[in-house]
Amino acid sequence: MYVKAILAVLLGSQAVNGQLAKLAREAGLEYFGTCIGEGNTNDQTYMNILRNLDEFDQVVPENGQKWDSLQPQQGNFNWGQGDIVANIARQNNQLLRCHTLTWHSQLPGWVRDGNWNRQTLTAVIETHIATVLRHYQGQCYHWDVVNEAADDNGNWRNSVFYRVLGTDFLPISFFAARQADPSTKLYYNDYNLEYNNAKTDITVEMVKIIQRAGAPIDGVGFQGHLIVGSTPSRQALANTLRRFTALGVEVAYTEVDIRHASLPPNQQALVTQGNDYANVVGSCLDVDGCIGFTVWGFTDKYSWIPHTFPGEGDAMLYDSNFGKKPAWTSVSSVLAAAATGGPSPPPTSPPPTNPPPTNPPPTNPPPSGGNCSGMWGQCGGQGWNGPTCCSQGTCQQQNPWYSQCL
Ligand code: G3I
Repeated sequence: MYVKAILAVLLGSQAVNGQLAKLAREAGLEYFGTCIGEGNTNDQTYMNILRNLDEFDQVVPENGQKWDSLQPQQGNFNWGQGDIVANIARQNNQLLRCHTLTWHSQLPGWVRDGNWNRQTLTAVIETHIATVLRHYQGQCYHWDVVNEAADDNGNWRNSVFYRVLGTDFLPISFFAARQADPSTKLYYNDYNLEYNNAKTDITVEMVKIIQRAGAPIDGVGFQGHLIVGSTPSRQALANTLRRFTALGVEVAYTEVDIRHASLPPNQQALVTQGNDYANVVGSCLDVDGCIGFTVWGFTDKYSWIPHTFPGEGDAMLYDSNFGKKPAWTSVSSVLAAAATGGPSPPPTSPPPTNPPPTNPPPTNPPPSGGNCSGMWGQCGGQGWNGPTCCSQGTCQQQNPWYSQCL
């Protein structure tokens, strides 16, 4: 007991309390993961959290496996950046989502500006995919084979691949991937599919084109780069996911972040962010064939968003000091409810303007022997009217508005 207490202090609360992946598996998902920025791996606090298998049991390289990183010049393959996260995953027993092959962005100039015909560009795609998949053979749980082939208006994106090959670059890429590594699941991956609009329509068409060509496609990745307050409802998201599972492919959320459109967020905005996250996770839990959930980074300390959308951000589950945000609590609660078969928790209640003095968590076991929360259930917090005791585990305060049986 004494040794455990000391260990808990030494490891820090994040390491001890990690549970998103554990709950996700209990709830029936295959994993709960995060991308890893290759440049962040010297940050020990960051690494301690993401190495916690109970928190993240799947990882994806943020940039290292993109074409400009792996084959910057024709025929010159460079594995340094791509191997960073692959090695972390292997050492830590985490699933590796691999990202990405045929994509118009982070594409080296020699491909983007080359003077290709049908035959020569097909050979370039096939060589890249075969070489990369063989290098990572047996390591990738999924590959994002084609990324972002539709533009924001729901038209085919005007990439070198589409200009030279029309839509044939889709089956060409998927055939090449299956041939090179039959053991990995092959995904099409894109953003803004969540809004069920023209872009979603063309993506449904894309899956059909690939299938009609007889090419293998196992899944569609919903990236989930969303905005606080504009995220569709749980039911609407689930309906959109089902448009794809109806085609016989699985779906996954692959790059979720939900950004504030203005900074700093006020407390209500933090609550709305938590509810938006809960809706996205909940939609996956509601759909047979939605198999996993990946966030595009977990801390506000590191994110692509401020570079692309100046003035926006704070989109992650942990703040920039690695504290858990209300959004973390929401995600944890939705997963816990599904894991224990209970009803979904109500929307997150607003945190108090000035958090009240910290009260000790309720003691265990309950004095009355009445209804208590099960493992991972909520057992206290500001505004909480439910059970304040645990039938399993101990009630532990996570923050002033949320205590949980752990
Ligand atoms: O590595 C160079 C460095 O050498 C150079 O000094 C520096 C100067 O700007 O740039 C560095 O490269 C940057 C790279 O991230 C690594 O940090 C690029 O400029 C920057 O554009 C690149 O941004 C990445 C972005 O994809 C590019 O499209 C983000 O980190 C990455 O999070 C983002 O991820 C994409 C997914 O792959 C696909 N879906 C959308 C998602 C968000 O945009």
